Amino acid sequence: MIILAIETSCDETAISIVEASGGITAPLFKELSRVVSSQIDIHKEWGGVVPNLAKREHQKLLVPVLLEAIQESGIAQTHTKAMPSDIEQILDREPLLFNSMKECEALQNVPAIDYLAVTTGPGLEPALWVGINFARALSSLWNIPVVAANHMEGHILSPLLRGENITFPAVALLISGGHTELILVKDWCTYELLGVTQDDAVGEAFDKSARVLGLPYPGGPEISKYATRGTTGALTLPRPMLHSNNLNFSFSGLKTAVKYYADDHAPLNEQQKADIALEFEQAVTDVLVHKTKKALEQTGASSLIVGGGVIANTRIRNTLSQCVGKNVALLLPDLVHCGDNASMIAAAAYIRIEKKETKCELVAHGSQALAVE
Ligand code: KG4
Ligand code: ZN
Repeated sequence: MIILAIETSCDETAISIVEASGGITAPLFKELSRVVSSQIDIHKEWGGVVPNLAKREHQKLLVPVLLEAIQESGIAQTHTKAMPSDIEQILDREPLLFNSMKECEALQNVPAIDYLAVTTGPGLEPALWVGINFARALSSLWNIPVVAANHMEGHILSPLLRGENITFPAVALLISGGHTELILVKDWCTYELLGVTQDDAVGEAFDKSARVLGLPYPGGPEISKYATRGTTGALTLPRPMLHSNNLNFSFSGLKTAVKYYADDHAPLNEQQKADIALEFEQAVTDVLVHKTKKALEQTGASSLIVGGGVIANTRIRNTLSQCVGKNVALLLPDLVHCGDNASMIAAAAYIRIEKKETKCELVAHGSQALAVE
């Protein structure tokens, strides 16, 4: 089965073409192409993602990203088809995208794919809608069905793209710019929420703390870079909720502590920034590792899946690898699949197709959580 997946939930315009096989007993994914066009440079000057700018950029980028993904995949394009009249109506709210589709004759060649898949949530609604309407327009143009995919399910399944398989029950730790959650994965698509952040997501805490230190957006990779030059023990930051008797998290106090320390020591020199970055990273790692171990103990899960942009962080990756016991399999995504990409969306769509649990409703849900029990 060949799936062309579209992801526009935040500030990456991403399209992948993935060949999927094996069903739910042994799912196997081969990426034929993966194109991710980041809008970071546009949002950088605002210090974070601006939803309407993201919407405009997705409209401009989707057609070129699609052409690149089709070309890179080498898949056949069978026959040509004229543009149906309903496309203008489908793209009523995306005039830039409509123009770019209209001007692109190459889109009239139908690629040999079985399904289109698109992220319907969670994410920024204006951004999600662009991807959804693009998928609907392509579906009409090529006469190929569209499957809705959940972004967080995509992050959970991202380690499958490197050939890992999940043994159930599994604990999933999701750490991204918008989410910090511990989830019990009982079976394919069957979830129970174990813990969730009470305020900021981990990635958000990285981004906000980086801003306090005068480092550019996105702050995660910047803080990691600075942390490598930090001195251990130069300062102490709190480990919020480390000993709370539940699996919830809180990161806004940590960010505030960074701000107070920075204000008290202003102006910060480069070494002080590095020291704060290191202690911040250690505080986050301590909390994530502690709660994750607790979740594994409580559930007796046989595997730990970690997904989301923050698992690109070397310290968090290494510490989790060291602390997971021998009888728990650790499933981490490749670095290219930590941040937002469309291959994970293809994987999420495939599992839903195989389980015959596809939704026909193509509507953006900004806060569409995983359906938990
Ligand atoms: O999953 P993702 O690409 O987008 C969302 O769905 O949110 O995650 C983005 C987040 C950002 O907050 C970014 O700062 C963080 O992942 N991030 C990192 C690193 N690389 C990206 N955080 C810590 N260390 C990194 N190396
Ligand atoms: Zn994400």
